[in-house]
Amino acid sequence: MAECALSNADADADAVHAISLVICMGTCCYIKGASAYLDDLVHVVQQKYGDAVHISAGNCLGQCLLENSEPPYVKVDDEIITHATIKKILEYIDERFTRAV
Ligand code: FES
Repeated sequence: MAECALSNADADADAVHAISLVICMGTCCYIKGASAYLDDLVHVVQQKYGDAVHISAGNCLGQCLLENSEPPYVKVDDEIITHATIKKILEYIDERFTRAV
């Protein structure tokens, strides 16, 4: 029983610190470059952060409908990155981990 409780505590700790990364693959972001960097981004993020960052591809985040739209968009937890590039996304994730410490 105690072993099970420890496992749950470890899982909860991981869940708290994991960052969610959603790459918009809606038409606008896809055309503006998301498709070009998706594979490279997944590879780099998995190598650098492992399970600490959960990556998924998502539908339109609704940002492309805004005036002065700046695709491609990526959502990191609850924040949106505009004109998302691999470099910009990695810098943002590093900053998130730094803030969490
Ligand atoms: S297609 Fe990416 S925000 Fe709409």
